[in-house]
Amino acid sequence: MLAELEKLREEAIAAIGAARGTEDIEALRIQYLGRKGRLRDLMALLPQLPPDEKPEAGKRANQVKQAIEAALAADGAAPAKPAPTRPAVDVTVPGTRPRVGTLHPLTQVYDRLVDIFARLGFETAAGPEIEDEYHNFDALNIPPDHPARDGFDTLYIGDDQLLRSHTSPVQVRVMETTPPPIRIIVPGKVFRPDTTDASHFPMFHQLEGLYVDEHVTFADLKAVLTMAMEELLGANTRTRFRPSFFPFTEPSTEVDVSCPFCGGDGCTVCGRSGWVEVLGAGMVDPKVFDHVGYDAEKYTGFAFGIGIDRFAMFSLGVNDIRLFYENDARFLKQF
Ligand code: DAH
Repeated sequence: MLAELEKLREEAIAAIGAARGTEDIEALRIQYLGRKGRLRDLMALLPQLPPDEKPEAGKRANQVKQAIEAALAADGAAPAKPAPTRPAVDVTVPGTRPRVGTLHPLTQVYDRLVDIFARLGFETAAGPEIEDEYHNFDALNIPPDHPARDGFDTLYIGDDQLLRSHTSPVQVRVMETTPPPIRIIVPGKVFRPDTTDASHFPMFHQLEGLYVDEHVTFADLKAVLTMAMEELLGANTRTRFRPSFFPFTEPSTEVDVSCPFCGGDGCTVCGRSGWVEVLGAGMVDPKVFDHVGYDAEKYTGFAFGIGIDRFAMFSLGVNDIRLFYENDARFLKQF
């Protein structure tokens, strides 16, 4: 009797496990537990057992009933197993393509310049965007009454605090804390109260450079800047050094490159001149060395400042500076 009960339990549970859908489950319930079911048939034999076997057999019959009920309940509660038609995941459907961004065009120009100057031994330095007048003007040999201050006149935050109008104050900050020799470049934001138009924006970007050592000459300045421009714009690029004035350099120069679009023939990008002005530079004025405590008899150096936005505009063929700041993905993703 016990063996029969065990067999029935195993058989029922296997059948329930293989069942598909609620109808199957119901049929099995009737087959095993129904009034005329298989368990009832077995239990009907109980009275015929010897008295000492009856309690055990009764108990086991109950356990088997509970086990079958539990199996039926578990399977019946689970959703009907779907017919095995096709796989739930269709691996042949094309996926959703993630939108991969690109570096901002200004960042790309910065990265290339930083890379070129790094190979020439220039380290990257940084300084505060909120400057004091001393570092933005005085230490750079721009005294309060000097007309050169007008061109830089900038956005004041307090009496002595202003948004820096160029990256040149970082030259002073680095020289104040570092003895020569020095070879640095300074990428950074600068601010001027310019009225916005296609070529002006109140915030823009510069890359400052400074090289100080014994025996640095104007020939070094020309060599380094010519090489950097050829690296950046192509080996056929020609450079032109025009005399200029900056209070913190003497002599000073403005540097033009042959137009990368027309190769110097003249086009709309270069205003038909064949040349584009790209940077200001010069030999560090001894007065600047005096301010930072460098021995101007022993050390010489050159400095330069590149306007990154202008540079990006003509080298990428962008005709409006505002496009860099509008955050329009249709524009940005072209680069
Ligand atoms: N600071 C200048 C400007 O904003 C650019 C410049 C010119 C920087 C000559 C220099 C330099 O370091 O030597 O217009």
